[in-house]
Amino acid sequence: MIADIPQRAVFDESARYHRFLEYRVTGEIERDRLARAVASALHAARSSVGRPARIVVAFGRRLWSVLAPDAVPSDLRDFRIIRGIGGHVAPATQCDLWIWLQGSGEDENVARTLALHVALRDEFTLQLEQPGFTYFESRDLIDFEDGTANPKDDAARTEAAVVPGGPGAGGCIVLIQRWVHDLDKFKALDVARQEAVIGRTKAGSIELEGDALALDSHVARTDVEKDGVAMKIYRRSAPYATIARHGLYFLAFARALERHQVQLDRMYGVSGDGLHDRLIEFSRADTGSYLFAPGERALAQAVDSEASGSDPAGSGACGPEVSGSVVSGSAASGPEATGP
Ligand code: HEM
Repeated sequence: MIADIPQRAVFDESARYHRFLEYRVTGEIERDRLARAVASALHAARSSVGRPARIVVAFGRRLWSVLAPDAVPSDLRDFRIIRGIGGHVAPATQCDLWIWLQGSGEDENVARTLALHVALRDEFTLQLEQPGFTYFESRDLIDFEDGTANPKDDAARTEAAVVPGGPGAGGCIVLIQRWVHDLDKFKALDVARQEAVIGRTKAGSIELEGDALALDSHVARTDVEKDGVAMKIYRRSAPYATIARHGLYFLAFARALERHQVQLDRMYGVSGDGLHDRLIEFSRADTGSYLFAPGERALAQAVDSEASGSDPAGSGACGPEVSGSVVSGSAASGPEATGP
């Protein structure tokens, strides 16, 4: 059996424009119909713009269990509400299907979004559509660099983000949460206090050390080991903003769901040490889902056989590795089918 590989856009950091679509199945979960709709949608998204698509697709447990019952990671489950310290809540708004479009401009993402939605709308209800963007040099709207401690090379990314074996191997467990910032409240702090909340300097993003790193800083709550193993994840969050509402669409990939949950529990103060992450005093999550982003091969298999004339899998992710070694050649036939 040939090993699967993650959808290539998971690790592609080249786009500055993002669009996140969260769908819920409208009626009964029925495999053939839904697989066909997803395949058509991905094909439409890819073929609607004459340049290579960067798309990641992920599924909630109940949909993926029907599409690919043999490829469900054993730890995949729905997001559960977290009732944290001080009334802070992480709500659960579990979706069934998640599509992440990465583009060179809003035009590209809009064209793909409108095309794919036509193929999905009879079977799925759109529950969230969130555009996002890269803010200056990968800064969050609170004006701190986001992503500094992310794993940088292929080996480290794979170790952090890719299910290593068993059902679902080669895919990634995904956490998505839209966070809404209270920027006025955060900006009312002087820079030293802001840095104490984050655990890094604002200029240079240097980690605070020793006593300077507060135990309730964001870095101290999320840079964590369990049984001697660093709970590393790979983050791909994107800021979003209007005057009325602005924040961070948090997005991270992990090899095991536990890695996300350990960090969330520590952020919300439910991990047993009585501490919470001070960041949640300045931003609140208003959505939350756990998903599985299957590897390229698993994705192609799950939505391919019912594609009825559309480009197999429409995986939006198939590059040479897949077409050459795993899926039949048609999976990556046109320019839209290959990655950048
Ligand atoms: C309002 C939402 C959030 C904001 C604005 C935010 C911002 C940041 C910033 C500025 C850093 C320091 C720079 C860096 O290493 O990237 C950071 C680090 C980090 N964040 Fe977040 N974050 C948010 C939510 C989350 C959530 C929900 C998680 C996990 C469930 C998380 C996990 C991490 C991790 C693992 C690190 C790196 C820690 C280290 O190893 O040094 N963040 N975040």
